[in-house]
Amino acid sequence: MTLQIRPFVSDDRSGLVQAIDAVCGESRWMCTVRFEPTPAWTHALEEPRCPCHLLLVVKDAEHVVSWCRAFPRVGRSNAREATLGIGLLPPYRDRGIGIVLVRRSLNWAQNVGYQCVRLTTHPDNARAIHVFTCCGFASTQRIAEDVLEMSCYLAGLSTA
Ligand SMILES: CC(C)(COP(=O)(O)OP(=O)(O)OC[C@H]1O[C@@H](n2cnc3c(N)ncnc32)[C@H](O)[C@@H]1OP(=O)(O)O)[C@@H](O)C(=O)NCCC(=O)NCCS
Repeated sequence: MTLQIRPFVSDDRSGLVQAIDAVCGESRWMCTVRFEPTPAWTHALEEPRCPCHLLLVVKDAEHVVSWCRAFPRVGRSNAREATLGIGLLPPYRDRGIGIVLVRRSLNWAQNVGYQCVRLTTHPDNARAIHVFTCCGFASTQRIAEDVLEMSCYLAGLSTA
């Protein structure tokens, strides 16, 4: 199986939305049951080349099987911060793809001058927490019973 990891282009849109809907519908770890585009998502889909964000897709032949995104985090502090989100269809999990995508996203964020990348996950999502910890994230705060925030400070981080 040859998988392609590359930035999203407009032609990927319906396949990407299908993949997100599938992961949201199947996985109890996502915060919505289907794709619900935020303004940042709408911008990323409509302006794929805008340098403020990174949206990676993984394709197996013509099918989008995974995504990883880093979007600017607005209005929280003076620091340049991004948020990260990721998902893979079930057959593609536990093959090392998630770690590659997160590291690649952190490397991008570091290179374009972000200072910190944050994400939220479910406190019981052991696989995701393992992946994020391996990549340099640490737990920051428990925002709610079922929402754990993790942060990765990029200064000096090795993303190789
Ligand atoms: C979480 C997710 C993005 C990880 O991507 P992935 O490609 O499956 O992860 P990888 O294969 O790169 O790495 C998996 C790691 O977790 C470990 N792992 C697997 N299941 C685990 C578990 N239940 N507890 C702890 N670690 C686990 C694996 O051993 C591997 O670690 P290793 O490389 O040190 O051996 C992916 O599984 C996914 O999309 N899951 C469903 C949706 C989701 O949870 N999204 C994230 C929401 S914040």
